[in-house]
Amino acid sequence: DWTMAAYRAEAIEKIRAQVGSGRVICGLSGGVDSAVAAVLIHEAIGDQLTCVFVDHGLLRLGEAERVVTLFRDSYNIPLVHVEAEDLFLKELAGVTDPEMKRKTIGRLFIDVFEAEAKKLGGADFLAQGTLYPDVIESVSFTGGPSVTIKSHHNVGGLPERMNMKLVEPLRELFKDEVRALGRELGLPEAFVGRHPFPGPGLAIRCPGEITREKLEILRQADAIYLEEIRRAGLYDDIWQAFAVLLPVRTVGVMGDHRTYDYVCALRAVTSVDGMTADFYPFDMAFLGRVATRIINEVRGINRVTYDVTSKPPGTIEWE
Ligand code: XMP
Repeated sequence: DWTMAAYRAEAIEKIRAQVGSGRVICGLSGGVDSAVAAVLIHEAIGDQLTCVFVDHGLLRLGEAERVVTLFRDSYNIPLVHVEAEDLFLKELAGVTDPEMKRKTIGRLFIDVFEAEAKKLGGADFLAQGTLYPDVIESVSFTGGPSVTIKSHHNVGGLPERMNMKLVEPLRELFKDEVRALGRELGLPEAFVGRHPFPGPGLAIRCPGEITREKLEILRQADAIYLEEIRRAGLYDDIWQAFAVLLPVRTVGVMGDHRTYDYVCALRAVTSVDGMTADFYPFDMAFLGRVATRIINEVRGINRVTYDVTSKPPGTIEWE
């Protein structure tokens, strides 16, 4: 794609001109955007860039390992992996309000990131994988000009506090363009084509109080669901698919035993930019297969439902 090749060259020149000989820190979320931003910036300025990956313990099964391997082994990009699960889960204990969860996670993320940046001796620039829709959404989200539907999680506030300037090389791009740029940069297809994943992670897919046990149950159900979606060849037709663990237990029967376990909701939507979305019309046989597997394989879940709400009036995530 010659357009993306040209964009890549131009973006690299811009980054070099902006950064000069300065030091840059980039926060990796595990998602596509921050990864593409980091690889692009690394190509522009090499080891003037250090990446910091704050692992809040709210990631999907095997995700942290995948990110660390990709960056350290495949790209040789200096990466600090901060394991902050204990801190996040401690501070989130007892928090049930969705906005409070988002704010707590956002605040801790900034604290941890700031502490790591200081350990590295500070930096002149903070790099972020901000996309064009992020720029728009922070002005007017789906609810209209002055209504905050959800506080988005990013490192807002940090640049001023630490006297850093922002480097945001993806600010003019939409998601599909970021993916094309990622391909242009040689990122593996399996990484580039991944569904979006929210900054607050599994915390907002676990309505009610978050516990280590619930997160573990959710991770297992989510992994089975995504495995079945890939196996059915549907992954690329779907914008986003994930499991949600409801804070509700219901009665079931397994063999000749009574069970009393959590309900899992499955969500899958199609969308162009995340601003509006339609629920994905799986066939019933597929849903039945996934439900059977989850109930048989995941201890703690005995009922599975499918979310048939579009956006609006629903949002994609449950919180
Ligand atoms: P909603 O749930 O608002 O989500 O319909 C729209 C898209 O945004 C993602 N999302 C987030 N992404 N930080 C992010 O980086 C967040 O705090 C956040 N909240 C929602 C969501 O996964 C969907 O793709």
